Amino acid sequence: MKKILVINGPNLNLLGVREPSIYGARTYADLVDFIHAHAKKRGVFAAVCQSNSEGELVTVIQRARGRYDGIVINPAAYTHTSVALLDALKAVGIPAVEVHLSDVRAREDFRQVSYVRAACVKTIMGRGFDGYADAIDALCGLCGLEDA
Ligand code: DQA
Repeated sequence: MKKILVINGPNLNLLGVREPSIYGARTYADLVDFIHAHAKKRGVFAAVCQSNSEGELVTVIQRARGRYDGIVINPAAYTHTSVALLDALKAVGIPAVEVHLSDVRAREDFRQVSYVRAACVKTIMGRGFDGYADAIDALCGLCGLEDA
């Protein structure tokens, strides 16, 4: 069974509490359950992690090398600042999909830049939890993750 690593960045642990008008009322635990349920439906294994620390996220990406077939990443605020996450994704060369719960295109100017995007095969935004399902589907389709 193919393996997907879902990586969540800072403040996503506060889903349900943080700005519910933007991010919704469901919690981070709900998101983890949602991802596992969708992965099961698609016949892939998904590990889900979250960190508030940029360095830890870099380490998580590095450790995925040789262990995971695809990465789904919501780098949260580090999307807009982190060359380190871009470099880590490029270094490991694992197919990656960028996800955002909110439609960042319709938000502040400082959210219009994504450093990680250059290392991702696709970006999904504004679909809430469903964006993570779309990302898993995209990896299954683009990279043939269901086949082996
Ligand atoms: C986010 C969008 C980012 O701009 C923001 O900093 C987040 C969450 C999203 O999922 O919509 O923390 O990545």
